[in-house]
Amino acid sequence: TAERRPLIAGNWKMNGLRAAKSELRAVAAGLAGISAETMICPPFTLIGAFASDVAGTELMIGGQDCHPAESGAHTGDISAEMLRDAGAVAVILGHSERRIDHQEGDAIIKAKVKAAWRAGLLPVVCVGETLVERDAGEACAVVTRQVRQSVPEGATAANLVIAYEPIWAIGTGRTPTTDDVAEVHGAIRHILTERFGAEANGIRILYGGSVKPDNAAALLAVSDVDGALVGGASLKAADFLAIARAA
Ligand code: G3P
Repeated sequence: TAERRPLIAGNWKMNGLRAAKSELRAVAAGLAGISAETMICPPFTLIGAFASDVAGTELMIGGQDCHPAESGAHTGDISAEMLRDAGAVAVILGHSERRIDHQEGDAIIKAKVKAAWRAGLLPVVCVGETLVERDAGEACAVVTRQVRQSVPEGATAANLVIAYEPIWAIGTGRTPTTDDVAEVHGAIRHILTERFGAEANGIRILYGGSVKPDNAAALLAVSDVDGALVGGASLKAADFLAIARAA
């Protein structure tokens, strides 16, 4: 709806060396006429350089994870404050690859959302069901539970974005039907409304999982889909821009 400006975010995952700057520049240079908000979330190593590079453009830079603590003895970890200091304005939290590769559960994700708020970052909280859960008819129940348990009290339209990423649609080329997407996004809006009242109307809910230039328009037209979290297709400036233009 008009009150929710679409957000097209690219999750580069563990991809990108310094040379990828040319791709970032191509994205920043191609934003004219795109009304959606746009963001690229590169690996930690590129955040500082990318943030300086896009300064003065509309393109935002985000992280892909953060530690709940502000600083301390946590070898290899990065705090929300560090992301902010490097120039990030947002952070993806609770991506299924983190939930699986690093055994992250809803409680730790909730702590990370609080850390993002503490540092002034916009958290993009990912939820989504496995194929087994989908086939058992549990998709809405699973994402509702994840939103209930991983989003702290105090969420507002300005400080939270949710991304629905069915795990079986990530990197597989498979996507749910638009009816299925509408149903799950509706369920997410419902739990957000139950918890946060009228603020829920302004909270953006992105769809993620095999979003490509050729299916973006159909997915983005679904009710309660307020943008996309794009993996593979975000690595190519032309594809990312095509998706952003579809929003
Ligand atoms: O976070 C976005 C991601 O998980 C979707 O990946 O490659 O299916 O667009 P992909």
